[in-house]
Amino acid sequence: MLRLERLSSEDFGALEAALQSAHLPTQDIRDPGKLFYGAEKAGETVGFIGFEVQGSEALLRSVVARQRGQGSGVLLVQAAIEQARIEGVRRLWLLTTTARDFFLKQGFRKVERSAAPDAIRQTQEFQSLCPAEADCMTFEIEEC
Ligand SMILES: CC(C)(COP(=O)(O)OP(=O)(O)OC[C@H]1O[C@@H](n2cnc3c(N)ncnc32)[C@H](O)[C@@H]1OP(=O)(O)O)[C@@H](O)C(=O)NCCC(=O)NCCS
Repeated sequence: MLRLERLSSEDFGALEAALQSAHLPTQDIRDPGKLFYGAEKAGETVGFIGFEVQGSEALLRSVVARQRGQGSGVLLVQAAIEQARIEGVRRLWLLTTTARDFFLKQGFRKVERSAAPDAIRQTQEFQSLCPAEADCMTFEIEEC
């Protein structure tokens, strides 16, 4: 189980470094409307997640494990789903060029970009930061 800690922009150094090393977008992380969390396990930050919440829909972005292949990714996605539920989100969307199969294993479905609601398609990731060939994926969050 991971503990999520909301990051303020003064704490973005490690987030930015992790995103850069994973070739994920950083250009817009200080823009308004974005939530970023560091994920801690036994007092150590094992990765990061981010959201752009639009009502009951959210873009899940910036999912990055600091050390790969040690199970952090699965825990990051579980923590993201729980945090999204707390934020009142019912459906997650994401774009990925490298981790489609990872997200399929976590229960996400691959869909056409056009399936995403307008507010999600208006995000900078959809508009310009992620290449057109990125896979669009979605996850329905069940009510407790
Ligand atoms: C995607 C990512 C978060 C996965 O984290 P991780 O800690 O390496 O993943 P885990 O160790 O929890 O792996 C869980 C399973 O997914 C598989 N997996 C991990 N990354 C994968 C990938 N990119 N593609 C396909 N399968 C992947 C693992 O092999 C493992 O499979 P298994 O259950 O059969 O053993 C990590 O690779 C990462 O930070 N990638 C760079 C950033 C990125 O692309 N993020 C996604 C877009 S926001």
